[in-house]
Amino acid sequence: MALSPSKADRLWCARAGREGDGLNADYIVFGRPSFGPDEIEAVVQTLRSGWVGTGPRTREFEHRFAEYVGSRYAVAVGSCTAALHISMLAAGIGAGDEVITTPLTFAATANAILHAGASPVFADVSRQTMNLDSSRVEAAITPRTRAIIPVHLAGRPCEMTALLEIAKRHKLLVLEDAAHAIEAWYRGRKIGTFGNASCFSFYVTKNMSTIEGGMLCTDDQSIADKARGLALHGMSADAWARFSDRGYRHYEVTQPGFKYNMTDVQAALGLCQLPKLNAWLERRRQIWARYDELFADLPCQRPAPEEPDTVHARHLYTLLIDPPSAKINRDQVMAFLHERGVGTGVHYRSLHLHRYYREQFGYRAEDYLNAYWIGERTVSLPLSPSLTDREVERIGQAVRDVFRK
Ligand SMILES: Cc1ncc(COP(=O)(O)O)c(C=O)c1O
Repeated sequence: MALSPSKADRLWCARAGREGDGLNADYIVFGRPSFGPDEIEAVVQTLRSGWVGTGPRTREFEHRFAEYVGSRYAVAVGSCTAALHISMLAAGIGAGDEVITTPLTFAATANAILHAGASPVFADVSRQTMNLDSSRVEAAITPRTRAIIPVHLAGRPCEMTALLEIAKRHKLLVLEDAAHAIEAWYRGRKIGTFGNASCFSFYVTKNMSTIEGGMLCTDDQSIADKARGLALHGMSADAWARFSDRGYRHYEVTQPGFKYNMTDVQAALGLCQLPKLNAWLERRRQIWARYDELFADLPCQRPAPEEPDTVHARHLYTLLIDPPSAKINRDQVMAFLHERGVGTGVHYRSLHLHRYYREQFGYRAEDYLNAYWIGERTVSLPLSPSLTDREVERIGQAVRDVFRK
């Protein structure tokens, strides 16, 4: 079923990235999405079909995505943030509960805990893997702890055996934030099948994109049913069920839900992108290997090797720039690369030092020292499968030149 993107398709994507309104033709945008003729055709077909809201394509995408992950249920939503929010509500997490997660994540992970009415509690990460350190998770557990949200940062699977064992011993739920980890595996099992629920992102920079979009996967029918209701105002029937050619049906509002549904236009993109994941992962592996080769002798830390018996989803290639050895800091590296026409990203400055979290919870840098240390040093390079070999070499040379200055 794997449809590998043809070379022409890849080149088309690369060119398309250069022709966008307002984009400098030579600038290599960080996180460039791979949309080609297939995606355009799928969107046009959907627009022509007469049904663009949540409908048959969304159902089909849910079905295919559940199959891909190996979960019993999948609920398509407007974002991973929405999936995180309703997965917590559907699992019964709310006021008075504490949820443990990493501070080295995008704000959405912890914001969603707050939106569910619970309190985020951070546990520090490992400097090597940049993922939650399970011993710190255990130390953060209190009588109010209800759940752990492991984030598979950059596509690297968390230590699921240890985390599941802790969760079992303390009777905690596990909700995976798999925003970066669509293709990842851990010890023969797909990431996204370990938790009571798991949440994926199809945001533009992610390994596959529906522009905005997310998926909640679960084996628990009760979580799936509640999440489906919560994603659409708490209604008992979606628009397809009410207005399609099968005739109108009444609905009941069974709870005050949210407007988190995915549209069929987004789902059409998802259906196009899903079969390309394997080929794209292979291309990102090639780029990753080339970066590893090009940067082997530079005074910066490259990503740790893939752990045995795991598949890393290769979402982000991050370098750690430590000023004493590099003689330059992360922000200077980013400015230099920008001048050379290479866009970069930061994943992430530790969340405990962002103003809201600092002021609300009184955090200091040293509270999560590893996350702070990484957050001050990390820079992510472009890793899109649509990068041409020439672009990869240009990025590599620009990074090498940073350290020659
Ligand atoms: C780790 C992580 N979790 C959650 C999210 C939220 O995803 P979305 O933008 O689809 O809401 C992101 C998005 O960047 C993310 O990186």
